[in-house]
Amino acid sequence: MQDIKIGILTLSDRASAGIYEDKATPEIQKILSSYIKNELKFVCELIADEFELIKEKLLFLVEQKCDLIITSGGTGPALRDVTPEATKAVCEKMLPGFGELMRLKSLESVPTAILSRQSAGICKKSLIINLPGNPKAIRECLEPVFPAVPYCLDLIEASYIEANEEVIKIFRPKKK
Ligand code: MTE
Repeated sequence: MQDIKIGILTLSDRASAGIYEDKATPEIQKILSSYIKNELKFVCELIADEFELIKEKLLFLVEQKCDLIITSGGTGPALRDVTPEATKAVCEKMLPGFGELMRLKSLESVPTAILSRQSAGICKKSLIINLPGNPKAIRECLEPVFPAVPYCLDLIEASYIEANEEVIKIFRPKKK
């Protein structure tokens, strides 16, 4: 089984300044460790909501050959929320279905889910997925989209994910 390299980029002015604890990074690590059987190598970064800095860190994580890069936070309408813009700025292709499905599912639990502009995209051989910053929202958003993640990594020639099927059912179309 190949190792899977995962970048986690958490965006929060307050958590990066030490005003409150970053609960997003451990939550993402916990969820992905339960979904994936491969050995996971995490590269974690916690920074303020700064467009240029986010772009720089995303490109750094791509350079580190992360198969999957998860951002958390900065997807809302507040003035400092620029994560989706920075993601778009570094990606060659956007995958709007990720954000559409996350909002659809999240709306079942919270009307303000329509405020999140999260998306996903491809930069070289990395899949970047934006999630909101709230730990509860992280799980609600990651769960519905994860079944398509392993096949997406196959298509971009990233590492091969072996999913823990007892925890999450993934989908790979049968080869013709
Ligand atoms: N999605 C889920 N599943 N659960 C939530 O509680 N909160 C929403 C939305 N999406 C929420 C959610 C709210 S209130 C906002 S402002 C946006 O995510 C953006 O959050 P972010 O700025 O932390 O990225």
